[in-house]
Amino acid sequence: MKAAAILLVLLLLGGCEREARRFTSPMPSPGASAPESPRVGSLQPATQQQGGVKLSTVGEGPYNGNAFAVNQGKRLFRWYNCNGCHAMGGGSIGPALMDDQWKYGSSSAAIFASIMQGRPEGMPSFGGHIPDDQAWQIVAYVRSMSGQLRKDVEPSRGDTLSGGEAEVARTPEKPRPADPPPSPPVGGR
Ligand code: HEC
Repeated sequence: MKAAAILLVLLLLGGCEREARRFTSPMPSPGASAPESPRVGSLQPATQQQGGVKLSTVGEGPYNGNAFAVNQGKRLFRWYNCNGCHAMGGGSIGPALMDDQWKYGSSSAAIFASIMQGRPEGMPSFGGHIPDDQAWQIVAYVRSMSGQLRKDVEPSRGDTLSGGEAEVARTPEKPRPADPPPSPPVGGR
């Protein structure tokens, strides 16, 4: 009986973390000390931003275990028109994000970099256009597309146009070893 009560409390505590709604970012924006990296994509979603972008100094994103944030990421993926190029994850102009192939890496930090720096063959640079915190929510959602997160935080069927099976129902794709990293842009931009 006592063991059951302890188990219940543990389960409830676990549930709290999964559902926590944080209104301030648990991960401060990369500080002034973070080195500035060049934008790699020349496209930008709105007015051209000057200068480089700050990349993450940590490998793991803050939201990979938070169902609320992952679902916010799912909403933002459409709001920022990621789906305009990547469709609902299966890819169109941009590559598929729900498979096991990652040209620039599948880690949270690598996906954050893809979003913020942009990528040379047509991926816009979102650095400075969207808040870091929202970028991290999108990172967590992108990882859920190929089943990289815990099942209890992955989104179930969306309320709008469905792109096939709900993220939670997908078979996890094991990221294949990435190709050798592309050479950095000559001269920096
Ligand atoms: C204008 C079209 C376009 C939009 C909008 C766009 N992407 Fe991309 N994205 C691309 C293309 C094209 C590539 C491939 C770039 C390359 O190979 O250099 C790419 C690459 C990526 C990659 C790297 C994939 C890998 O295999 O490593 C990620 C992650 C990504 N996009 C996420 C996003 C997210 C998240 C958004 C929304 C915030 C977004 N993209 C918006 C076109 C787009």
